[in-house]
Amino acid sequence: MDDAVSAAGHAPSVLNTQPWHWRSHDDTLDLSVDPARLLAVTDPDSRLAVVSCGAALHHALISLAAGGWQATVTRSATAGHAGHLATVRVDGRIPIEPESVAHLRTIGLRYTDRRPIQGDHIDADKLRSIAAAAESQGASLHLLRPHQAFELAAATDFAVRTESGQAGWQAELQQWAGGARPRKTGLPDTAIPQGTTPTTVISRDFGHRSDMVIAEAHDRTAIFAILYGPEDRPLNWLRAGEALSAAWLTATELDVSVLPLSVTIEVPDTRETVRQLLGDAGHPFLVLRFGVLDPAGAGAPHTPRLPTDQTVERTTD
Ligand SMILES: Cc1cc2nc3c(=O)[nH]c(=O)nc-3n(C[C@H](O)[C@H](O)[C@H](O)COP(=O)(O)O)c2cc1C
Repeated sequence: MDDAVSAAGHAPSVLNTQPWHWRSHDDTLDLSVDPARLLAVTDPDSRLAVVSCGAALHHALISLAAGGWQATVTRSATAGHAGHLATVRVDGRIPIEPESVAHLRTIGLRYTDRRPIQGDHIDADKLRSIAAAAESQGASLHLLRPHQAFELAAATDFAVRTESGQAGWQAELQQWAGGARPRKTGLPDTAIPQGTTPTTVISRDFGHRSDMVIAEAHDRTAIFAILYGPEDRPLNWLRAGEALSAAWLTATELDVSVLPLSVTIEVPDTRETVRQLLGDAGHPFLVLRFGVLDPAGAGAPHTPRLPTDQTVERTTD
């Protein structure tokens, strides 16, 4: 169980809040959101926190599968359920699949790549594999056509300006981004781009200039996609997080970089604009930018993570 919780700790999360809380009891793990690590202004419905917890859940399940453990998951994510999201029960041994072992290794390598995309177009086969990985976890990827990417860019610009104009949002960002992050949550200066990134769709206004040097390049070959699902409920947000994890691990193994972009989802008006880009297909949970991974090396040092003991409570009878 400890290995699963530790693997889950590597999951991506909005502003690196790591909003998951595990309760470990015999052969059971209970996953909840941690109210102390929610973003009251940026994410008032906890939608992005639940997406982040879904990614942590998928990481935990990969770790169990790579250890040869069969797990049964009961997802209980409902609004008003005191933040309880899922129960994982380990109930036997299974053969170890090479794919799980590869994914477990990739969990330690995956990172958010905020550099502009340079280089070639992504192979269509790779994009199909990434979309299939998301689909296998109950959410879908809609790849945007170039003219839709420009609509997304305009919506993102509006969302960034809307958030930047709110004092409460600025205060929350100051709390979670910048500095050396000795408490091991949030985004350190090293992970924040220095100045404005030359890109079609901006990421977010991190509120200050930082350490991550950005080369002169553009996102001409970037692919923008919307992660979406059939309904806009906490259970769908959890599944979206599991799909995000599956898609991102697959992308990393195929040398495709990933940048989640949540600002248009955070602002209700632009979330509606993104929903319209989907036609009648469903409800958007996150925008993703994909690109061919720059072979010149890592984009930024890995962001800090809380010690596992701070995310798990162990109980016995
Ligand atoms: C739901 C969600 C929303 C995110 N939104 C953004 C975003 O808008 N801009 C951004 O640069 N990174 C975004 N990220 C990436 C996180 O900042 C990143 O996962 C976290 O800082 C941990 O870093 P790592 O992914 O490199 O391990 C998001 C991640 C998640 C899971």
